[in-house]
Amino acid sequence: MNRREFMKASATTGAVLMTGSLSLAFAGELKPIQLLKPEMGSSNPLMQLLWKRKSLRQFTSEPLSGEVLSNMLWAAFGINRPDGKRTAPSAKNQQEIDIYVARAKGLYLYDPKANLLNPILAEDIRGVTGRQPFVKEAAVNLIYVADYSRMGTHTEEEKLFYSAADTGFISENVYLYCASEGLATVVRANIDRPALASVMKLRTDQKIILAQSVGYPIKTS
Ligand SMILES: Cc1cc2nc3c(=O)[nH]c(=O)nc-3n(C[C@H](O)[C@H](O)[C@H](O)COP(=O)(O)O)c2cc1C
Repeated sequence: MNRREFMKASATTGAVLMTGSLSLAFAGELKPIQLLKPEMGSSNPLMQLLWKRKSLRQFTSEPLSGEVLSNMLWAAFGINRPDGKRTAPSAKNQQEIDIYVARAKGLYLYDPKANLLNPILAEDIRGVTGRQPFVKEAAVNLIYVADYSRMGTHTEEEKLFYSAADTGFISENVYLYCASEGLATVVRANIDRPALASVMKLRTDQKIILAQSVGYPIKTS
């Protein structure tokens, strides 16, 4: 099916057939729509990055340059509009996710307004940011921490749901930035949270959601 036929078929059926018995029962006369193959050689930069997005877990010890670190953090959750809104969406614009940055030199907290990394701890805590051995090798481990004190009167369940969803968007921004720069990255849930929270001296209403390792990849061939 070429593009013209596809447009015609879409207009005729008007909707995409959903799977699952309930949806099928309501689909009536609708027919499946054969989608076009994703374009490999697309000139759209986002399409090119999505082809490259993946998790990698082998890192060299090379530190990230100031330029890469700055751009990565802005891509992750920087401010992209005059009203202070960010590169990733956040539920009710609560902006509850803080990004802590664990580097060999120490632990920092990203301040997007001042465009600063504020020092928190002069200690290399990369090894405590996850249970997998590679975490201590990655140049940077981002730790996504939800500050529940910014989340109003939601229930605990809602706070966790929103924080997890919001973190997913930030993490994907980092994945796409890494794909654009040839960096290795993996988002991680396998964390000893009480141990990490204790080292980071977090308050009880600050919750570690996920971590994400970033660095230069070990070339395998
Ligand atoms: C919420 C979440 C938690 C994850 N936790 C870990 C983890 O603790 N350790 C790890 O090595 N990978 C972790 N991953 C990465 C997945 O294993 C990876 O995305 C999956 O295998 C698919 O591979 P891909 O990212 O290359 O497509 C996690 C991914 C997500 C979305």
